[in-house]
Amino acid sequence: MRVVSSRFALAAIAAGLVLGFGAGASASEKGKQLFVKNGCWQCHGFVGQGGVAGPALAPNVMPVEAMSSFVRNSNRAMPPYREAVLPEADLKEIHAYLTSIPKPADPKSIPLLNQ
Ligand code: HEC
Repeated sequence: MRVVSSRFALAAIAAGLVLGFGAGASASEKGKQLFVKNGCWQCHGFVGQGGVAGPALAPNVMPVEAMSSFVRNSNRAMPPYREAVLPEADLKEIHAYLTSIPKPADPKSIPLLNQ
């Protein structure tokens, strides 16, 4: 009986760790979901690499203030996203996601490209 209950305790701790990681993974994961949900990917690509319609947003990400003011006030080829549609907190999550996208390797570090 004692063994069973300590196994149960271990399982509970393991589950807690898994759930804890799930919650911790989030800043950029949530931003990624918002990037998809708000349709940014349709023009800018899933990892902000740029597409037919929109320029690259990553890996050289503009400061969050500049991004916010562009996204809110765009009156050119990109539709504006006002705060009622895209709350500032969500925009910051998207910015965090874009910032988390790694830069590609320096071509000089790839032997095959330097022969
Ligand atoms: C319908 C296509 C479309 C969608 C959807 C879209 N964009 Fe854009 N975006 C563009 C285009 C086109 C430009 C270039 C516009 C210009 O220079 O006037 C742009 C420019 C930008 C820029 C400025 C980039 C720079 O280097 O100047 C940012 C930041 C940006 N978009 C973020 C976003 C975010 C965040 C979303 C989602 C909330 C989004 N965009 C959704 C088409 C789109």
